[in-house]
Amino acid sequence: MEIRRFRNGDESALLRVFFSSIHNIASADYTPEQIDAWAPKDRDPQLWASHISQLRPFVVEVEGEIAGYADVQPDGYIDHFFVSGSYPKQGVGTLLMKGIHEEAERLGLTELTSNVSKTAEGFFLRHGFHVVERGFPVRRGVTLQNALMRKVLEFVPQEQIRG
Ligand SMILES: CC(C)(COP(=O)(O)OP(=O)(O)OC[C@H]1O[C@@H](n2cnc3c(N)ncnc32)[C@H](O)[C@@H]1OP(=O)(O)O)[C@@H](O)C(=O)NCCC(=O)NCCS
Repeated sequence: MEIRRFRNGDESALLRVFFSSIHNIASADYTPEQIDAWAPKDRDPQLWASHISQLRPFVVEVEGEIAGYADVQPDGYIDHFFVSGSYPKQGVGTLLMKGIHEEAERLGLTELTSNVSKTAEGFFLRHGFHVVERGFPVRRGVTLQNALMRKVLEFVPQEQIRG
């Protein structure tokens, strides 16, 4: 299992991961109507490609196949965090979380935030996030449930390590 940065050409594989993650994993916590509104089958691939290439997520590969991806933006906001329905509970999410924390340290970020699904809330809690407030975003006229979650990062400045 390895983590790398987004490469041009990943777009369609990441759309398949997004779709599979929502339809095969998050479907345990949302109704079929909510799942179809969140990850519709007719999503425009051009718009998707443009959005995902702007996010420039980290990508995890297992034996050459993309198994998950997640981004962190310069302000510490995590927009997407998805593991394929073919690779649940195998450590893909944990490796993505590690990549995000290392990037946050490189960027000198003081906090991470995300609007987290019901499915991922426990996972984010175990990685040190807390719920700030609950939200009810509307997608294609259907109300979903999520939670704004936040983690304050405390890095030891290099001067302190050097003494
Ligand atoms: C939430 C999500 C990202 C977690 O990804 P994941 O790859 O399953 O996460 P991990 O495998 O690292 O960890 C999940 C659990 O599997 C366990 N696990 C990890 N490797 C394991 C292994 N080799 N064998 C057995 N269990 C393992 C972990 O200990 C962890 O247990 P915990 O939940 O009790 O803490 C994933 O379920 C997902 O994509 N959900 C749907 C989409 C979604 O809602 N995304 C978030 C939008 S904000």
